Amino acid sequence: MQTIIVETDRHDRLKEAVRQAVELLSRGEVVALPTETVYGLAADAMNPEAVAKIFAAKERPSFDPLIVHLPHRDRLAEVAEIPEDIAGHVAKIVEHFWPGPLTIVLPKTAAVPDIVTAGLPTIAVRMSANPIFRRVVTSLASPIAAPSANRFGRISPTSAAAVVKELEGRIPLVVDGGACHQGLESTIIKVVSRGGELKPFIRVLRAGPITKEDLQPFGKVEFANDLTEKTEVPGQLPSHYAPRTPLRLLTSPDDFQPVPGKRYALLSYRGDAEDGYLSLTDWHFTTTLSPGNGKLPEAAVRFFHCLRQLDECGADEILAEPVPERGIGVAIVERLRRAAAK
Ligand code: TXA
Ligand code: MG
Repeated sequence: MQTIIVETDRHDRLKEAVRQAVELLSRGEVVALPTETVYGLAADAMNPEAVAKIFAAKERPSFDPLIVHLPHRDRLAEVAEIPEDIAGHVAKIVEHFWPGPLTIVLPKTAAVPDIVTAGLPTIAVRMSANPIFRRVVTSLASPIAAPSANRFGRISPTSAAAVVKELEGRIPLVVDGGACHQGLESTIIKVVSRGGELKPFIRVLRAGPITKEDLQPFGKVEFANDLTEKTEVPGQLPSHYAPRTPLRLLTSPDDFQPVPGKRYALLSYRGDAEDGYLSLTDWHFTTTLSPGNGKLPEAAVRFFHCLRQLDECGADEILAEPVPERGIGVAIVERLRRAAAK
């Protein structure tokens, strides 16, 4: 299959790209689309044969459910049965965070094909804020199932070029919407009632751009992403986002003693010699997440791009400097840990 890449950098091109994407999706094909987090591999969520093509192109195991993207908030009740005890809380959360990088796990309706949720009684739903994605999903007028547009377990794509590297020859169309603004996948939450007037528990099943601080006004936030804990997110295997080159996450410069003859690559946080990592060895290659001051949102945007560069540089091992574990840094560190897991 030939993979065509369509640009969106002029109004006429954007219109044509959206037209082609909607046409393919209506015919039950898959299309790679930009979202504000990472590129997604989209199919009509209500068409099980189309959804099966996502699993095939990604080589994704059938136990791993997909995220469903809505054309509009009002369509939530079509795909999710919202339990009465959390309905008010969910409404407030959706009102505040959608469209945006927040996914909510809720009981599913019978209308959603089982293949989408891998047979689970729940569905993960969000509404993307990316203007190109929104044009496509509103023209299609059907919810879109879209996991990240990478082969299973590999590095998520944050540019059209990265999608092509992952899925060329497996999908008919990539809509090039430029670099993704957030750079990390959506935060996934589950809302659990605490009864009465109390604000609910918000269980964070996957850390992402919507941080603990962002969620706190809406409930008591708990994290469920301990690698040792049995995961509530079937696809969050201990090893994920994995480069082919082994990766080690350092906690201090003393953690690293180079073996002579081995080629090492460094993922630096802010590229500052004062941090003590740049001088540890004669690096084969280095790249920096947020050059200068070290800004976490910038590090998030560049994270998967840098990881891919390091994976392609020909090093024997990638060493990653620690990143501050606050705000979106929590989500970066979570990805680094999974990238480092065997
Ligand atoms: O930002 C994002 O969320 C991107 C863009 C494309 O929207 N999508 C994304 O999809 O990251 P994916 O498939 O790479 O990750 C979705 C994760 C998987 O780990 C899956 O196991 C989990 O969500 N998931 C899906 N449905 C679930 C459910 N009902 N309960 C728990 N976890 C679920
Ligand atoms: Mg993924």
